[in-house]
Amino acid sequence: MKFGRRLRQLRKIKAIGIKPLAKKVGVDHSYLSRIESGRVQPSEQIVHKLAHVLSCDEAELMLLADKVPPTWRTTIRKAPYEAASILGESLAEYRAGTLDELATTTNGHTSVIEVPASKSRRKSPAGIATNDLVFTSHVGTNDELFPRILALYVKPGSTVADVTYGKGVFWKSVSKDSYRLLTSDLLNGVDCRSLPYEDASIDCVVLDPPYMHTPGGTAHVGHQNFEGYYGNNRTTNSSGRKYHEAVLDLYFEAGKEAHRVLRKEGIVIVKCADEVCANRQRLTHVELLNEYTAKGFIVEDLFVLLRTNRPGVSRMVKQVHARKNHSYFLVLRKSNGKSRWFGP
Ligand SMILES: C[S@@+](CC[C@H](N)C(=O)[O-])C[C@H]1O[C@@H](n2cnc3c(N)ncnc32)[C@H](O)[C@@H]1O
Repeated sequence: MKFGRRLRQLRKIKAIGIKPLAKKVGVDHSYLSRIESGRVQPSEQIVHKLAHVLSCDEAELMLLADKVPPTWRTTIRKAPYEAASILGESLAEYRAGTLDELATTTNGHTSVIEVPASKSRRKSPAGIATNDLVFTSHVGTNDELFPRILALYVKPGSTVADVTYGKGVFWKSVSKDSYRLLTSDLLNGVDCRSLPYEDASIDCVVLDPPYMHTPGGTAHVGHQNFEGYYGNNRTTNSSGRKYHEAVLDLYFEAGKEAHRVLRKEGIVIVKCADEVCANRQRLTHVELLNEYTAKGFIVEDLFVLLRTNRPGVSRMVKQVHARKNHSYFLVLRKSNGKSRWFGP
């Protein structure tokens, strides 16, 4: 693979346009474009900056640009014989196909599955070996995981409706010019159960309504942020249901509306979390998947997001269920079930 092609591929994976990337690296976008098309060879300094901005393996990029990775240099200088023989042996092994590779290409992202050595000649796999993959579980925050889900499921330039936009946290690390983003929230008077969009007009709907019920009484007095953020009382009141059933009702109705506004094969990304309600374990993500798949969606993915901080507990007499420290992103596709997902 040539450097330019790899750079374009990484840019697509990270859903970053050539202009914003050029700005971050401090070069003109036309220069970056010449690098991508292979007309110009980048300097070591540019490769270093690109690796940093794209958070990818600098050594891989350096090698593709015909440069010795700086971090390797001292070692190679100190032990040139050993370095040459280790590298030589590894490359010979690779060429001989001791590690046969089965490559699968999904959405421009390539994963390589290693299988035991076979006597047969090594196949010429499609795609390239990389460990820059999107994984189903992630320790961190919404704004770290969300762009990776978008990169996997939503083509740059798509019309995306975030119908519970809130403070826009999901979009913190998404390049502004990557998508045509339509934002709405109950706070601005738009209910996600009744959207102002035409039928089949949207490529992707993002849904993150309140996913916990507010127990009522004095349980959350003084926790204004909690109520402000989740806004449960506002939504429970309009459905006529209570507690967890109110949470589900909102998700179900919003799912129906998402189905209406999504074009055929459109994607809905749903954020949710399970909860224990009145000492009953409610696996919200299962309840949602059951409902959504019964109503014209197909499940494509499920991401688990593990929070890094420890959830606080004010008073606890006796713990009876495990405290949840994870949430989910569900990815579903509007489909009649006949088509398969091959990437955006
Ligand atoms: C968990 S927060 C969303 C956080 C948001 N994803 C962000 O990044 O800031 C839930 C949001 O849903 C909104 N909301 C609650 N009920 C709604 C409804 N029926 N329609 C639209 N938005 C609603 C709340 O106002 C709140 O902003």
